[in-house]
Amino acid sequence: MDLSGLARPATELLDGVMDRALVVGYTKIGSGLRRHWWAADADPQALLGKRVVVAGATAGIGLAMARSFAALGATVHLLGRNPEKVETSCAAIRESVAGAHVVGEVCDVSDLDAVRDWTTDFANRVPALNGLVHNAGLMPKDRVLTREGHEVQLATHVLGPHLMTERLLPLLRAAGGASVVWVSSGGMYSSPLVVDDLEFRRGYNGVRAYARTKKMQVVLADSWARRLAGTDIRVESMHPGWVDTPGVAEYLPRFRVLTRPLLRDVADGADTAVWLVATRPESKPGHFWHDRRQRPTTFGWQRHENPVTVRRLLEQVSRLTGTPDEWTGLRA
Ligand SMILES: NC(=O)c1ccc[n+]([C@@H]2O[C@H](COP(=O)([O-])OP(=O)(O)OC[C@H]3O[C@@H](n4cnc5c(N)ncnc54)[C@H](OP(=O)(O)O)[C@@H]3O)[C@@H](O)[C@H]2O)c1
Repeated sequence: MDLSGLARPATELLDGVMDRALVVGYTKIGSGLRRHWWAADADPQALLGKRVVVAGATAGIGLAMARSFAALGATVHLLGRNPEKVETSCAAIRESVAGAHVVGEVCDVSDLDAVRDWTTDFANRVPALNGLVHNAGLMPKDRVLTREGHEVQLATHVLGPHLMTERLLPLLRAAGGASVVWVSSGGMYSSPLVVDDLEFRRGYNGVRAYARTKKMQVVLADSWARRLAGTDIRVESMHPGWVDTPGVAEYLPRFRVLTRPLLRDVADGADTAVWLVATRPESKPGHFWHDRRQRPTTFGWQRHENPVTVRRLLEQVSRLTGTPDEWTGLRA
């Protein structure tokens, strides 16, 4: 079916309707249709001579991203918490992408001391960083605490990536054009921004903690984009749609059984994050993307985030990660 001749208003309308009809937009039906009109691919050598870190790259969407970045010519730093998996994943990419430059990095993103140690070591090894993708994710059913006492989804989705971004800022600045991408989820639409119990001490529920922290990622990415406005570092968040990955098999087995024929493959799930880093498109406040197009951060009936609530999030994230908070008033 060739839909490339449709007028832009028609494709925008169709695209928006699919976005709200989740099953159509988030599955492979959505990407299958949108690829007829979505923005052009990156140049095949767009990332030659550039350096990209993919955090959470030993499985699923992150591994597919690392492969796509390598195919676009980047030196890919494939970061995972399990050394054997990091080694196996690097080997798999070297085997499938001729001439791939892949470097394995071991770091548990949820462990803030480990993030401090790894970023120090990394900064001693490389001069600049063009792309940083925060993809590590999980959804445990029970409330799990990290070694440092943080709820693990908060630590993995929010605290670790925030700290990593802060500490890699000099390398991102040195690149002369860098992108930071947070891999969130469409599930974030189901949650308000909750700032009075970041560690989910009351009434923990794995799916709700996931949605809350994925919402925080979108707000945090937008706040980072404001903080870095006027510099040559772009910050975005995106969601990959519904993708068949080891994570979905582990955390949402029933959902997977019901939806499997329609789930996207991992390369499809990785597409928008890779495209954002490789093409660095202009973006507007919100900075939230899906299928190569900016999307609303709230649906029509939801209120936009209250700037005071956003500021409370930023202050707490700064305090919990021991990072500067002078910039957190930007949105108040
Ligand atoms: N699949 C979907 O339909 C879907 C939908 C919306 C959003 N997402 C988001 O997409 C991202 C990738 O999801 P996925 O489905 O590909 O998940 P996955 O198959 O479970 O892969 C997750 C990756 O993150 C790594 N990871 C988890 N915790 C980590 C930590 N503390 N430090 C370093 N790495 C860590 C995992 O490492 P190990 O191999 O060591 O576990 C694995 O490499 C997640 O952020 C998820 O929320 C996925």
